[in-house]
Amino acid sequence: MVQRETWATRTGFILAAVGSAVGLGNIWRFPFVTGEGGGAAFLFVYLLFIALVGFPAILAEFVVGRKTKRNPVGALKEYGGGIWTYVGGIFIVTGFVILSYYSVVAGWFIRYTLEGFRGSYAARIAAYEGDPEIMFGALSTGLDAFVLHTVFMALTVGIVALGIRQGIELAVKVMVPAIILLLLGLAVWAFTLPGSGGGYAYYLSPDFGAITENWAELLPAAAGQAFFTLSLGMGVMITYASYLGEDRNLASDGTAIIGFDTGIAFLTGLVVFPIMWAGDMTDPGEGGAGEIFVALTQAFAEVTGGQFLGLLFFATVSLAALSSAISLLEVVTSYVIDEKGIERWQAAVGMGGVIYLLGVPVTYDLIFLDLLDLFADAILLVFGALMLTILVGWIAPKAAIDELEKGIGPLDGLGQAWIWAIRVPILIVLVISLYLGVVDYVEFLTGPFAEWIDANL
Ligand code: PHE
Repeated sequence: MVQRETWATRTGFILAAVGSAVGLGNIWRFPFVTGEGGGAAFLFVYLLFIALVGFPAILAEFVVGRKTKRNPVGALKEYGGGIWTYVGGIFIVTGFVILSYYSVVAGWFIRYTLEGFRGSYAARIAAYEGDPEIMFGALSTGLDAFVLHTVFMALTVGIVALGIRQGIELAVKVMVPAIILLLLGLAVWAFTLPGSGGGYAYYLSPDFGAITENWAELLPAAAGQAFFTLSLGMGVMITYASYLGEDRNLASDGTAIIGFDTGIAFLTGLVVFPIMWAGDMTDPGEGGAGEIFVALTQAFAEVTGGQFLGLLFFATVSLAALSSAISLLEVVTSYVIDEKGIERWQAAVGMGGVIYLLGVPVTYDLIFLDLLDLFADAILLVFGALMLTILVGWIAPKAAIDELEKGIGPLDGLGQAWIWAIRVPILIVLVISLYLGVVDYVEFLTGPFAEWIDANL
């Protein structure tokens, strides 16, 4: 048995977990899903979900990972036995699906970085009939998207092949502070724009009537986004916690990770919505996958120093995407290394190659983005999280509490409260979310996707 690596520094784990959590989910996905959910109403449900479900769920992954010190498949096999091995297998599939399109979207960020090297964003937009939407349409599919998907995947494979310590910890240390600084600067700037006020109202003052009316759409969307952004429901946090020493306080590490991740998503909203309103774009539900690109290139076209700032912003997000992609591939790779006894670099290259191919159709038409993204977060991640709550809450609660107490001390009633939260209310919420997510997905398959097939094949 090979000696398992552990994190080089105490902060290494937090940084890597934050690096996994903070990524396209916060900066690309959060604003447009919030837009589709009607702004503040979505934000409200989402924040509730993070606090009441996300926190207990991240602890569940931590205890399973640290206790078993295995990859997700091995961890579930050891922790639950029998049929749980197959649940771990679903985690691996989820990693495949998410990383495949994640890499394409990350490629767009690289592309927008490169645009900043070619000229000012105003000039770049002018090259596309002066319309940032046309620009996004041109850059998001086709040869360019394909090439940058290839580049991004190659980078991800390279870092994972190098191994956990040298690759991951180093890369993350610089990125997270850089993102926070950039977003803060942009948020302050957005505040000074004339006309931005409507954006704040849209984003921050929830209409509770809309929440009760639309809960059947809001709930699965918020659940999917919450798990996606926290990297939960597919074993990333199991894998990362498996490299963790027993002296760590999992509850405070979990709080820090969630705090960073949620703060960054929230801040992104404070950048995007005011900028959109200032630019007279007051229907964020329409923007879809291109929303952030359209809103921000518009912004960078107008501000002084926009070329430099924009370049810096898109580059930083590309890096944040890289640290998340690394974690996705790490799950898949650590599984193949541990369970099949294959060398790290071979595992990374082989698995990365298959994932890369799965993502190629997305560079052809964005309908495949919806096909993969909806399936992954409204179904696979919620299912994964549900399975973990059953495992930790019902199958082996005692072991979970014992593990959580290592590094914290006796929890007394709190441990029980955690288990009972997982056992009943969270389990029910997840079952309902999963059901609604499946309904939504079937609607997508029989609606937009079927139409696309008719029109194109
Ligand atoms: N949390 C990452 C993001 O927000 C995406 C991700 C999901 C990474 C699941 C790993 C696992 O971009």
